[in-house]
Amino acid sequence: MTIFEIIEKALNEHTLVSITLSGIRDKNHHYNRIDIRPIVIGDFYMLQFVKNIDNKDIHENLKADIGYDLIRDLLENSFRNFNVVTTDKHIHGLVSKKKKITFKMMEWDKQINLNLSHNRKKEYIIPDNKPCLFLYHLGVMDAKGKVYKSKYDKFRQINKFLEIMDHVVTSEAIGDCIRIVDFGCGKAYLTFAVYYYFKEVLGKNVFIMGLDLKEDVVDFCNTTTATLGYDNLTFRREDIRNYSTKDPVDMVLTLHACDTATDAALVKAIKWQAKYILSVPCCQHEMFDKIRNKAMQPMLDQGLIKERLSSLVTDTLRVLFLQKEGYDVSTLEFISMEHTPKNLMLRGVKKNNDRISSTRQYNDFKKFWNLKTVFIEEFYDREMKNDES
Ligand SMILES: C[S@@+](CC[C@H](N)C(=O)[O-])C[C@H]1O[C@@H](n2cnc3c(N)ncnc32)[C@H](O)[C@@H]1O
Repeated sequence: MTIFEIIEKALNEHTLVSITLSGIRDKNHHYNRIDIRPIVIGDFYMLQFVKNIDNKDIHENLKADIGYDLIRDLLENSFRNFNVVTTDKHIHGLVSKKKKITFKMMEWDKQINLNLSHNRKKEYIIPDNKPCLFLYHLGVMDAKGKVYKSKYDKFRQINKFLEIMDHVVTSEAIGDCIRIVDFGCGKAYLTFAVYYYFKEVLGKNVFIMGLDLKEDVVDFCNTTTATLGYDNLTFRREDIRNYSTKDPVDMVLTLHACDTATDAALVKAIKWQAKYILSVPCCQHEMFDKIRNKAMQPMLDQGLIKERLSSLVTDTLRVLFLQKEGYDVSTLEFISMEHTPKNLMLRGVKKNNDRISSTRQYNDFKKFWNLKTVFIEEFYDREMKNDES
């Protein structure tokens, strides 16, 4: 059998575990490696491609047949090494300059268990059907640990957030103690989950401040904290724009903080030099009335298209702003579209990156869209001035 037949068979039989392509040959590709694994989204068996470029991961989900064609093309033209793992085999191979493929195949002693059936249950960091006190108090699960149907999306959302956080945060970077601010925390499902994760799962000292404008939810959250006996988890009613602290902040979180509230949170994170930013924006209205570009006019003439485009412009501007402030930024699909359309996450990790080229990119992008004033920049300048005075 050729390697392509083996991969095709594994895809047809849903026995593929993973494929890794490495050793780039095609200089037009900038990827260091690509990791591919099957995932089930809704009713579709798909392939997730995680492309690593300059230590950043770019995720792309493709239908299995399209994914297969891409793997074939990448193997034939772009990479030198490959690893294919199926439930019963491990294959390691090479592609020569003349495109000759050779490989070694080993059988596993014991078949790997891979359950990718459509009704597969995902293993979450906080599992279903296991009592978890804070989720019970927040009305997400019953006393026996069964997640209520109406709360399942929220349950999935916070687990996904934790999963992403788990990938990005390294123990060396945070040590034994981590300080976090969750801006626009609302009823604080995420805030409690993050506290639970660091404190109970990782055994760290954790200090979290949850901030929201709504007095009733803040009171509810503080009462729940007291009931649960969670030390150092505090909620405060305050506008993000006015919040300040003298304590260091390692991580800033926002989950659907409305409109420019996200920008204010990002500016605070930059000012505090927070190591990590995980931000899922929503209701990006700012650019709708601001973006102008003659060549893009057909997209601006259609209300719905303009709305989506202006959201993307807003988020791109945020990415560029963070980059020019020295962050490594990736955008990822936070949760699949069928659960929420507000599914783009900005993930920033503080690095001492070169700021000259990213500042140029930021300015060029603003110029392209004819943007004279933008909230994130104005707010940043105001914050910096406040600091000086
Ligand atoms: C859509 S809710 C999201 C709540 C929570 N993060 C979640 O995902 O469940 C947005 C929250 O942000 C809060 N918010 C919006 N603007 C804010 C601001 N300027 N300062 C503090 N909180 C704000 C709102 O009160 C609201 O509770």
